Amino acid sequence: MKPVSLRPSWMFAPAAPAAAVAANDPASGGRHGSAGAAGAAGDAVGSHYAGRDVDTSHQVILYLDGISVSFDGFKALNQLSLSIDVGELRCIIGPNGAGKTTMMDVITGKTRPDTGTAFFGQTFDLTRMSEAKIASSGIGRKFQKPTVFEHHTAFENLELAMRAPRSPWATLFARRQDSATADRIAATLERIRLGRDADRPAGLLSHGQKQWLEIGMLLMQEPRLLLLDEPVAGMTDDETERTAELFLSLAGEHSLVVVEHDMAFIAALGGKVTVLHEGAVLAEGPLADVQSDERVIEVYLGR
Ligand SMILES: Nc1ncnc2c1ncn2[C@@H]1O[C@H](COP(=O)(O)OP(=O)(O)OP(=O)(O)O)[C@@H](O)[C@H]1O
Ligand SMILES: [Mg+2]
Repeated sequence: MKPVSLRPSWMFAPAAPAAAVAANDPASGGRHGSAGAAGAAGDAVGSHYAGRDVDTSHQVILYLDGISVSFDGFKALNQLSLSIDVGELRCIIGPNGAGKTTMMDVITGKTRPDTGTAFFGQTFDLTRMSEAKIASSGIGRKFQKPTVFEHHTAFENLELAMRAPRSPWATLFARRQDSATADRIAATLERIRLGRDADRPAGLLSHGQKQWLEIGMLLMQEPRLLLLDEPVAGMTDDETERTAELFLSLAGEHSLVVVEHDMAFIAALGGKVTVLHEGAVLAEGPLADVQSDERVIEVYLGR
């Protein structure tokens, strides 16, 4: 197991030894589907899955401009501007309190910005949509702790993730799709490396496998954009490597925004890196470039 984060010098260090395992390793088990994938089902019903209607004719899936969020006068986000291309795998790094999670809260409608614009594709104004509507429009969010249904099998968890409040007609229609659904679930289980664990209760899976299962639950909603907050925290090195492979396989088909402190993982993903600091973008570019940026070094190593 790796530490959740290495600070302040983590950005330049490889994964640290096992002894420093973090206190927030969620060994306490899953919260039963509260705000996680299943809860985000929204109106993804029948043959209409999330993300179908997103207008990405300009190749931009997410556009944030001048976003500010204040908590009692403290600016958690300060004129944050960011643009993510369709199919891109973007990594977001930055010290504690930089505003990374707050940014995800704004994108998912959990927090309303004081100022600024936030668009999903060309037409979805995220600042005016409810959390449920945003989720059902094709933005899936993975929180740090796995939120799987512990007493259900891996297969059932993916099945439940597809379920949304249905009308009787939609339920009838869904029945006819059952074999296609089973195929999709099986394919997703393979993709998240749980093909052999289909019938195991989720509660018996390792922490890393639970994380993959929750990602699988998000995938069942066919999101266009996936937001992943510290996805490899608490994973073994091997699980972390597998997760990098999984994310690389998802990019292109989906757009991914990954917040992480684990630099070996960020390096394995290989995409563009955005450094947040004090609620704004400090630097952006390939990992090697931002790591050698004087301002970035100053932020991490202190003055
Ligand atoms: N609901 C809230 N009320 C008050 N302050 C908040 C709230 N949410 C976040 N903050 C503050 O805003 C700042 C940014 O927090 P945020 O969680 O976005 O940082 P982060 O970059 O995700 O950090 P970490 O790497 O530790 O997860 C912090 O100073 C935090 O204490
Ligand atoms: Mg955070």
